[in-house]
Amino acid sequence: MKALVLAGGAGTRLRPITHTSAKQLVPVANKAVLFYGLESLADAGVTEAGVIVGETADEIRAAVGDGTRFGLHVTYIPQERPLGLAHAVIVARDWLGDDDFVMYLGDNFIVGGITALVDEFRRTRPAAQILLTRVADPRAFGVAELDQAGNVVGLEEKPRNPRSDLALVGVYLFTPAVHAAVRAVRPSRRGELEITDAVQHLLDSGAEVRSTIIKGYWKDTGNVVDMLEVNRTVLEGVERRIDGEVDEASETVGRVVVEAGARVVRSRIVGPVVIGAGTEIRDSYVGPFTSVGEHCRITDSEVEFSIVLRDSSIEGVGRIENSLIGRHVEVTPAPGVPTAHRLVLGDHSKVQIHS
Ligand code: G1P
Repeated sequence: MKALVLAGGAGTRLRPITHTSAKQLVPVANKAVLFYGLESLADAGVTEAGVIVGETADEIRAAVGDGTRFGLHVTYIPQERPLGLAHAVIVARDWLGDDDFVMYLGDNFIVGGITALVDEFRRTRPAAQILLTRVADPRAFGVAELDQAGNVVGLEEKPRNPRSDLALVGVYLFTPAVHAAVRAVRPSRRGELEITDAVQHLLDSGAEVRSTIIKGYWKDTGNVVDMLEVNRTVLEGVERRIDGEVDEASETVGRVVVEAGARVVRSRIVGPVVIGAGTEIRDSYVGPFTSVGEHCRITDSEVEFSIVLRDSSIEGVGRIENSLIGRHVEVTPAPGVPTAHRLVLGDHSKVQIHS
């Protein structure tokens, strides 16, 4: 069984972060979202992964390399334009050959891995196996309709009037039967060849489509709110580890990771929090569910429930909450009145904040 990992796409809902960085590489607890997916594929016994890349191909290649460190052998498959998930399968046709495969969307985050699902597929080998979860607003997803017995009877991509609250999660298992189906679909309203339509085509042609409703946690990390939520969930599981320096005047409470080469000076850190290598926290408070990347500086400030990417600095700005801050960002004070701030800042941004 092979894996087809989708790491193209423009990431419009994570702009401006994705102007300069692939959405799949935005870190959660200081590790790229995509890496969690690659690890769970390797855990499920997959060794051959084809990674679909688009505009951000260079960055993805630089981050993932040949896949050895994940226990995978990675082949890159360029997709000239993001024309849809079914289009990605068409582009990968030669590489996939006649193997079964698991298609994994690189911006999806599934706690608990996919090993059980892959094992079940290996045993039963339906033409397609899809993964579903209940969501509050199904209109943003592919949606499945099941009959009373739990069989999939219909699928629709981003329906205006959803027939259920069961959204398609970005992991699909296929036998080679999918290749004829992806060639049969026509572009959708948004101009893409939808994998949802290809699975519907399999259903229409009488092929077996199984579904599993996941119990574990899933998020499509396409937007900032979900990104922070995934970060929170992953941080819930970190173990306390202080490899960097924490001075006597500082306090670290609970599950706090301070990586080697990081320094905490006259500050209070309340976990769960991760502080990346080479970062300095001085005269500041870092509160729960915060990931601070490598080589950042946080001085005279408070940061909580946020992700700060590497090489950024936050100085003298009071309190920041619920924020995703890009790389090489500078946040500095401006005259005026402070309260809490909500920020989405792209890489290399410079912002002046009243404080
Ligand atoms: C894609 C699929 C959709 C699925 C979603 C899961 O949507 O088309 O069916 O529910 O991934 O993340 P997209 O991210 O392309 O909008």
